Amino acid sequence: MANAAGLEGVVAAETALSDVDGERGRLILAGHDVESLAPRASFEEATALLWQSAGLPADELRAGLGLARVQAATLLPGLTRALSLADGMDALRASLAQLETSEPLAVLGAVPVFAAAWARARRGLPAIAPDPARGQADDFLRLLRGEPADAARVRALDTYLVTVADHGMNASTFAARVVTSTGSDVVSATVAAIGALKGPLHGGAPGPVLDMLDGIGSPPEAEAWLRGELAAGRRIMGMGHRVYRVRDPRAAVLEAATQRLEAAIGTSAGRLPLARAVERAATALLGERHKDRSLAANVEFYTAVLLDAVGLDRTLFSPTFAIGRTAGWLAHMAEQRATGRLIRPASRYVGAWPAGLAQNLAP
Ligand code: COA
Repeated sequence: MANAAGLEGVVAAETALSDVDGERGRLILAGHDVESLAPRASFEEATALLWQSAGLPADELRAGLGLARVQAATLLPGLTRALSLADGMDALRASLAQLETSEPLAVLGAVPVFAAAWARARRGLPAIAPDPARGQADDFLRLLRGEPADAARVRALDTYLVTVADHGMNASTFAARVVTSTGSDVVSATVAAIGALKGPLHGGAPGPVLDMLDGIGSPPEAEAWLRGELAAGRRIMGMGHRVYRVRDPRAAVLEAATQRLEAAIGTSAGRLPLARAVERAATALLGERHKDRSLAANVEFYTAVLLDAVGLDRTLFSPTFAIGRTAGWLAHMAEQRATGRLIRPASRYVGAWPAGLAQNLAP
């Protein structure tokens, strides 16, 4: 184990939900390769696969989620303060904390409703009523803009939500499992997971990736800009991964989805060419600095480019990640609950010993 503080390589659970093969760059979601599932399945279909694997009810998921969104919207008048918070993840955490339910569906349906209400409140706009007949991706875009999005953008967002729906024992999933293992409830575990996802080493990176692309401006500037960041001791956002030693397979899925979307909506001025140039330059520079450790693009790199092409503001990138990942969190909670086992690891004491005991008891 490279570093005990990061628990790398420690198996903390058995799961039927997803497998991350960091050496080969392969991600399996409920028995399907991410490359085959994400471009085709709707968010509801992928969630149903995960939830069936975890023993959660998954019939009529699309209709159930629609009703859950309508139900969540009835809570909005009481969430004014929570939704006035400046950061979208803070607003999600505060508003989800107000839910009183043990129903996974109620939690999953609430996330896009609260995220969209927050985004509209920031612009001084009132929330819009959910349409229970639509899919989660479709309705989220409608709840943000006030009008339905085109099919290409909905498909791109579905691909994104499926791509990020689950990913092994990542930090937020582990947080959700730890809370669940104490016998606590789904709302508490979701709130803990949101807190973990917010950090820039986990789900907080895609907004800064877009800031980076803006800062670089054009491909010829990439290398000098990146060198400056590294010289200043800063990390390149969207690069590197705790588990993958090759390019994150989700980066390829999202890169291809961005290309399809840009072709469908006829954007020649999209950010994809710049993103590819920056990825090439960053991979080369990080390769020079870390010859024994491959640092390649991770999911967040092309999340930024795809969600930007879908038309989402960068402040919504992490909340949108949460919409997808909540499906996985809830499935992991069900798996964890079924084990009935408290997660309670150990620590090694390196502090001071009481006077007089030191010589006899200190190891
Ligand atoms: N930019 C520059 N250097 C990086 C880097 C990056 N994105 N990612 C890792 N490194 C460097 C580290 O500084 C470290 O260097 P050192 O050995 O000289 O100290 C070395 O590579 C090993 O990194 P380590 O901290 O052991 O990796 P980790 O497994 O803890 O980190 C991440 C994984 C994802 C946290 C890390 O790659 C990172 O911070 N990436 C940027 C944030 C990001 O994209 N997050 C989204 C993840 S999906």
